[in-house]
Amino acid sequence: SENKGQQLILKGKKLLVTAGPTVEIIDPVRYLTNRSSGKMGYAIAEAAQHLGAEVVLISGPTALQPPPNVQTIFVESAEQMLQEVLKHYDQSDIVIKAAAVADYRPKFVSESKIKKNDGSIVIEMERTTDILKTLGERKKQQLLVGFAAETNNVEQYAKGKLEKKNLDYIVANNVTEEGAGFNTDTNIISIYSRNEKPTSFPKLTKLELAYKILQHIASKGSDM
Ligand code: CTP
Ligand code: CA
Repeated sequence: SENKGQQLILKGKKLLVTAGPTVEIIDPVRYLTNRSSGKMGYAIAEAAQHLGAEVVLISGPTALQPPPNVQTIFVESAEQMLQEVLKHYDQSDIVIKAAAVADYRPKFVSESKIKKNDGSIVIEMERTTDILKTLGERKKQQLLVGFAAETNNVEQYAKGKLEKKNLDYIVANNVTEEGAGFNTDTNIISIYSRNEKPTSFPKLTKLELAYKILQHIASKGSDM
């Protein structure tokens, strides 16, 4: 397949990446989702494939074309994403969770369309499973990489997630910055790990950043 002169630094590695939003159903005509476009996760899948990895992409609904030569599995809810990720986790060497997973879902799904009335409505929500935290608890050989989308206190929150979810790396972005975050073709990120100093990148395209992230984790990952 196409390779723009890169070394095949991920040859022989199995890489699992999640992308896009999740969708949580309220009733037959309504759902809750978020502003993730899937672009960052799809870029990681494409770059990893070009770098020689065997790639599985687990994607929520997006407007994107699945990258060539990548096994792509489509899901909707956080629960479906969890189940598909768990099916592939044991045999993966690198797992990157770029998806924007719903933290809550409606506690009750109405089988018929909810009718309006004159007053307000309350939809009771319950927590979804934290997929990444679950993976962190079961981690063996895997290099586990999370994303953190923040609007403030980026470093503090990102490092907190790194610890709480037992990650090797977390890629943090401030979604309020111009040229970063949801539905942009560019992003501005920093990579945090347990022991190394953070690495920050200038504003780059999501595909350029995908290569930077993969080069970073492949060079530092000790058992790689
Ligand atoms: N994540 C996950 N499962 C969830 C929620 C989040 O796997 N149910 C993952 C995301 O894919 C991402 C990381 O956890 O890699 C951080 O997601 P983020 O929303 O930034 O953090 P949360 O831990 O959900 O905390 P909060 O939304 O309160 O900031
Ligand atoms: Ca969240």
